[in-house]
Amino acid sequence: MKNLFLGVLVAICVSVGAAYAIHQTSPAETYAPLPGIQAEAVYRYITIEDPYTNWDLWPGKGKMFKARPPLDHITTYVNDNALNSIKVERKMANGSIIVTENYTDGKKLSALFVMYKIRGYNPPAGDWYWLQYDTNGKAVVAGKVEACIECHAKMKENDYIFTDKFVK
Ligand code: HEC
Repeated sequence: MKNLFLGVLVAICVSVGAAYAIHQTSPAETYAPLPGIQAEAVYRYITIEDPYTNWDLWPGKGKMFKARPPLDHITTYVNDNALNSIKVERKMANGSIIVTENYTDGKKLSALFVMYKIRGYNPPAGDWYWLQYDTNGKAVVAGKVEACIECHAKMKENDYIFTDKFVK
């Protein structure tokens, strides 16, 4: 009995210690390392490891606003790296992730559009990793997706981003 009690006590100390250590070494919101170039890993990251719904909205933008085509009504979330880049009005830093929820008819979630900046991934097109998921989390497309790049290239000077002119 005594051994069991000691065992439990040790287990508690170890887990509290580990949690404490994680909090000591990681900045807020980024407890999990950023995902690699892999659609399932990115989905796991943005839904479980560091859920995008806890991120900030794009500054000055609300939820489910009427978007320009090809989008419908959208909510756009930015992680800390992206938010800081917007604040300093510079192109997105390495590790920036932008997640846009699209709602058809302004009501029904239909897709997630993701841009993830990975230094060295695709220098001729802003180093963006492009992903689109359906509502089951299945990647419809992922990679150096030509269709995404062709259209977003209109905004090349703004780091391929439409939402708002933020690059000085
Ligand atoms: C025909 C043009 C077009 C295509 C193709 C397109 N987009 Fe977009 N995208 C837009 C526009 C316009 C917006 C801004 C909508 C608004 O804020 O009104 C946008 C917004 C976004 C955003 C929010 C950040 C930003 O750039 O403003 C993400 C993320 C995104 N698109 C990802 C994708 C992905 C991934 C693909 C390919 C699967 C894709 N887009 C294909 C035009 C396009």
